[in-house]
Amino acid sequence: MVFQAPNLHIIYLLISIFLLLINPCSTQIFFNYTDFSQTIKNKTIIRTGNATISGSGIQLTPDEVDNWGRATYSKQMHLWDEKSEKVASFTSNFSFIINSQGKDRYSDGITFFLSTPNFPAPRPTDGAGLGLVSRDQMGQPIFLAANKFVAVEFDTFQNVEFDLPNSVSEHVGININNMSSQVSTPWYCTIKENKTYSASINYDSSTQNLSVTFTGFSHDNTTIQQHLSLVINLTDHLPESVEFGFSASTGLISELHILSTWSFESTAPSTIQQSLATSVEKNKETKLVVGLSLGACILIIGLVLV
Ligand SMILES: *[C@@H]1O[C@H](CO)[C@@H](O)[C@H](O)[C@H]1NC(C)=O
Ligand SMILES: *[C@@H]1O[C@H](CO)[C@@H](O)[C@H](O)[C@H]1NC(C)=O
Ligand SMILES: *[C@@H]1O[C@H](CO)[C@@H](O)[C@H](O)[C@H]1NC(C)=O
Ligand SMILES: *[C@@H]1O[C@H](CO)[C@@H](O)[C@H](O)[C@H]1NC(C)=O
Ligand SMILES: *[C@@H]1O[C@H](CO)[C@@H](O)[C@H](O)[C@H]1NC(C)=O
Ligand SMILES: *[C@@H]1O[C@H](CO)[C@@H](O)[C@H](O)[C@H]1NC(C)=O
Ligand SMILES: *[C@@H]1O[C@H](CO)[C@@H](O)[C@H](O)[C@H]1NC(C)=O
Ligand SMILES: *[C@@H]1O[C@H](CO)[C@@H](O)[C@H](O)[C@H]1NC(C)=O
Ligand SMILES: *[C@@H]1O[C@H](CO)[C@@H](O)[C@H](O)[C@H]1NC(C)=O
Repeated sequence: MVFQAPNLHIIYLLISIFLLLINPCSTQIFFNYTDFSQTIKNKTIIRTGNATISGSGIQLTPDEVDNWGRATYSKQMHLWDEKSEKVASFTSNFSFIINSQGKDRYSDGITFFLSTPNFPAPRPTDGAGLGLVSRDQMGQPIFLAANKFVAVEFDTFQNVEFDLPNSVSEHVGININNMSSQVSTPWYCTIKENKTYSASINYDSSTQNLSVTFTGFSHDNTTIQQHLSLVINLTDHLPESVEFGFSASTGLISELHILSTWSFESTAPSTIQQSLATSVEKNKETKLVVGLSLGACILIIGLVLV
């Protein structure tokens, strides 16, 4: 009499609501900029160094020597949580132009980076550190210990001191608190021309996979998709809350760096990390939650019926 079909639907509904409340996979940050001139008034993007708004884009540096610029989001991302040991996942999609306007020799490139908040300016200015760090700071272990960064670099110049000899000097790399990339790959770009590149950077905290998909151009001008990825435990390399955005620089030679569009999404640090042990834990937890919710639902329904 009591357990008729409609009551089962109510039970399922209550279980779903209960599970949603107890295990939210909520968005922490989401934005989508296709016109950065909107960000001047409400200061949602912070520009430093030589970065300026240019039309609908952000000119990180002009095509002039010894410039650097950054554009970062005004709020920090909560990347991981020490107490719960949970880590956020995020996706950063953007398009940009690097253009030497016909010059055969050019430098230095753009990074998307996550760092210790209030990351210091690159002093003294030089192009090698792509607007993130100077050569001087790169050589100071104390500076690097206090100011951590993880960056994806779109580097157009081969610095013999720390870039691997690639088949072409332009390369994309993943840098862990060091301008020597942990992994890198040649980048088939056409810097002498005014081309727009797209990139999608994703960090999946359950697999710890930091993966990058970006465009290049083949010899016949057709767009090609390129890839680079690295499995990395970001909690080992960054503080719980991070500043994030872009940097670029020029040195003895130059090129124009423009960020054209940027969309970003991060989850709250609530994804349970997936090792064998935690998977088993997670199953146990789920069973416990289902058990508890069922108990609670039956109790509630019981009360309603009484
Ligand atoms: C961002 O905005 C553009 C233009 O309005 C739209 O085409 C695109 O789908 C949006 N992207 C996301 C992830 O919402
Ligand atoms: C900033 O202003 C632009 C338009 O002026 C608006 O589209 C955007 O949502 C605002 N962002 C925030 C975070 O208020
Ligand atoms: C870049 O910034 C530096 C320091 O503020 C300044 O000396 C230089 O003139 C700027 N370059 C351009 C092209 O505005
Ligand atoms: C940066 O990486 C290079 C190459 O792996 C290494 O020789 C150098 O010691 C690293 N620098 C620091 C500060 O760890
Ligand atoms: C370069 O390309 C962008 C995007 O297509 C365009 O808005 C801009 O006017 C171009 N610049 C030059 C100098 O042609
Ligand atoms: C990381 O993600 C990329 C892109 O999805 C994939 O190609 C790569 O195999 C993944 N790496 C690992 C170790 O799973
Ligand atoms: C590639 O495109 C550029 C314009 O972006 C053009 O000047 C050049 O001739 C093209 N090259 C080929 C091989 O089609
Ligand atoms: C990631 O690194 C942190 C800090 O070293 C450590 O506590 C955690 O267990 C690591 N996570 C995994 C899945 O290895
Ligand atoms: C980023 O691009 C990927 C692949 O196109 C898409 O699935 C994802 O929704 C995009 N995310 C944002 C925040 O733009």
